Amino acid sequence: MKWETRITEMMGVQYPIVEGAMAGLGTVDLAVAVSEAGGLGMITAWMLKTPENLRKAIHKARSLTDKPFAVNFSPTMDKSLLPMLDVAIEEKVAIIETAGSRSNDFGEKIKNAGLIWLHKAYTVKHALKCEQDGADAVVMMGVEGAGLKNPTMLTTLVTIPMAVQKLKIPIIAAGGIGDARTFLGALALGAEAVTMGSVFCAVKECQLADHRKQVLVDADPYDPRWRNPILATPDMAALQKVVESESTKDLLKAAGKAEDFGIPKEAGTGAISLAIGFINEIMTTKQLVDTIMGDAEEILATGGIGGWKLAPGVK
Ligand SMILES: Cc1cc2nc3c(=O)[nH]c(=O)nc-3n(C[C@H](O)[C@H](O)[C@H](O)COP(=O)(O)O)c2cc1C
Repeated sequence: MKWETRITEMMGVQYPIVEGAMAGLGTVDLAVAVSEAGGLGMITAWMLKTPENLRKAIHKARSLTDKPFAVNFSPTMDKSLLPMLDVAIEEKVAIIETAGSRSNDFGEKIKNAGLIWLHKAYTVKHALKCEQDGADAVVMMGVEGAGLKNPTMLTTLVTIPMAVQKLKIPIIAAGGIGDARTFLGALALGAEAVTMGSVFCAVKECQLADHRKQVLVDADPYDPRWRNPILATPDMAALQKVVESESTKDLLKAAGKAEDFGIPKEAGTGAISLAIGFINEIMTTKQLVDTIMGDAEEILATGGIGGWKLAPGVK
């Protein structure tokens, strides 16, 4: 089956799957594995610390795959990342994602260089601002997702269709997605691709130690040790001012919990999401992507969704 959305066309990828940026884990090797599996791999620039390291990483990725990949600038897009952004632009990395900043701070620079610009948003209001500022697509994460949260954010199930009603640019859904049903669900909600982070933490190509990956396999999303920190958002009253400024950097500072989301330490990663419910074994990236896409195609061709099936002969 051919998967065609505005995102697959814009990015030149086989499947509407984007790897989430991952501070601590978003290496070149993982990005290459995702791109080779048919999705869009994402190098997390912040981890590389210097512009020259990023340049080397981009060259390494290009030596390992001829498929598209992206570079993310976050978790907070502070000025120290600017020289790295310049490198990504010089190197003409086709797709650049920004997060944790006001959308208009860096977009113009990326767009002027003729590159595709993705920005991460947490509310419809924020997403509309990204659209106004010229983003090519917006990644919208629901509260069941991993990492930075906004006190006003809602679930993926509600956020995506609300945004679809208002936005013209394509939306990439994130937060709690990790199997064929959540993937298809996101597309049914109106998203044109998904971003997944947590499920890529437990694949073979992720640099997390094997015993940590096993912790993720065993993690129970009903267990309050996992569920409570995952669903926590920063304190509303204290952060209202910061929220209005839409600066995630200030949000982090004000929350006073930079890089500590309260996730159980044995996971070995500061952030993880309710998608732990879909981490059942340690597989290669290709096996994970093939499983999700194979199951999705089978659901559409056989059981369908709610009784609806692909017509015979639809490819
Ligand atoms: C370990 C980890 C680190 C992350 N670090 C970042 C980051 O540095 N910048 C960012 O924009 N998002 C970050 N995220 C969020 C992901 O990019 C993505 O939006 C999120 O994982 C999607 O939700 P999911 O985990 O339910 O798939 C991180 C997620 C994980 C699991």
